[in-house]
Amino acid sequence: MTAPFLSVTDVRKSYGRGSNRFDALRGVSLDIHQGESVAIIGKSGSGKSTLMHLLALLDQPTDGTIALEGVDTRSLRGRALNRTRNKTFGFVFQQFFLTANTSVLENVVLPMKIAGIGRGERKRRGMAALEQLELADKARNKALNLSGGQKQRTVIARALVNNPRVIFADEPTGNLDSATGAVVEDILFDLNREHGITLIIVTHDEELAARCDRRIHIRDGLIISNEALAA
Ligand SMILES: Nc1ncnc2c1ncn2[C@@H]1O[C@H](COP(=O)(O)OP(=O)(O)OP(=O)(O)O)[C@@H](O)[C@H]1O
Ligand SMILES: [Mg+2]
Repeated sequence: MTAPFLSVTDVRKSYGRGSNRFDALRGVSLDIHQGESVAIIGKSGSGKSTLMHLLALLDQPTDGTIALEGVDTRSLRGRALNRTRNKTFGFVFQQFFLTANTSVLENVVLPMKIAGIGRGERKRRGMAALEQLELADKARNKALNLSGGQKQRTVIARALVNNPRVIFADEPTGNLDSATGAVVEDILFDLNREHGITLIIVTHDEELAARCDRRIHIRDGLIISNEALAA
């Protein structure tokens, strides 16, 4: 077995101070390998999003270590951290985070803008991603005029443009009707199978969790089970 892509060792995360302190993660350890699909499940408030934000290097643990390909991520700071996050990870969150009054294409090329990729290349890759998600005809529409499923597919297109190794998805189908949700799920699992993109998905949806290679169940800030699909 190859070295883990992400390795989490005894991670704790507390919010607030003194009597306001809340221990959202209380000592979590896990490994994620390249190409896996992993569901993070558990009740509301159990710490799922907190764990995902730490894995995605969007926040730092109060204690413990997160290593990316064997490198302690504490050694990544400032621009190096932003660059690593932007080129390694794609994000698909429930609330979309699209800029409403901007075109679909402009939304999709944003991670490439951040990466300093030139205008022509941005447009080419942005349109290719939109074609992959069957949204090329909506490229010039304002994001706010899209349907829910189209918004979520736009978010996936945006997550793909930098050829990420991992896609983090927090309730990717939570705001969608079941038919549209199924389409979005299929797209994510196709990316996993065909391009080896690691999927890390926070979900309340049992069926979505069941499609993943592994389910990590969190309760009150602790992992209570970490179960791989029987081979
Ligand atoms: N910035 C913050 N300040 C204080 N407490 C926080 C903060 N963020 C999260 N928490 C608390 O940490 C706990 C874990 O939150 P988290 O968002 O990880 O839960 P979750 O499992 O993703 O829940 P949900 O399914 O409702 O999204 C919750 O009790 C929450 O209130
Ligand atoms: Mg959450």
